[in-house]
Amino acid sequence: MRDVITWSDELSVGIEEIDTQHKGLIEMLNRLYQNAIEAQSDIETVKEILRELVEYTIVHFATEESLFRIFKYPDTEAHTRQHNELKEQVQEIVEKVERGEQTVNMELIHFLRKWLRHHIMMSDKKFAPFLTERGVQHSKPRKSLAAKLFGG
Ligand SMILES: [Fe+2]
Repeated sequence: MRDVITWSDELSVGIEEIDTQHKGLIEMLNRLYQNAIEAQSDIETVKEILRELVEYTIVHFATEESLFRIFKYPDTEAHTRQHNELKEQVQEIVEKVERGEQTVNMELIHFLRKWLRHHIMMSDKKFAPFLTERGVQHSKPRKSLAAKLFGG
């Protein structure tokens, strides 16, 4: 089974809770790809994964938004608006899939991958330093075994 997106330290925003959730989203997107495209699983299984992905996205956005509020992040409004637009977009897709008007094809997988990458690399990397400077738990990327043994 292949992955369409892989976690790497480059994707870390330096906040453990957020990184963990991003890893969860990545794992779900890979599972969606593997079931819908590779294994050609039945539509109910695919729909279930898609629903899970949407629910987890909503939880994830809510986590970020509560951090914005607690720490009075100056870009809260713009970032929240972005979240709302994405939620609407993704919910629309799910409804189409539920109604049988849209299949979970590679185009949709690529759209979700592009969205996830963009969300992590562009928007989350912007707010993360603001939060870590204010004491939100900082997670250091773990060194690989090779780096530990041979330095680097
Ligand atoms: Fe995020």
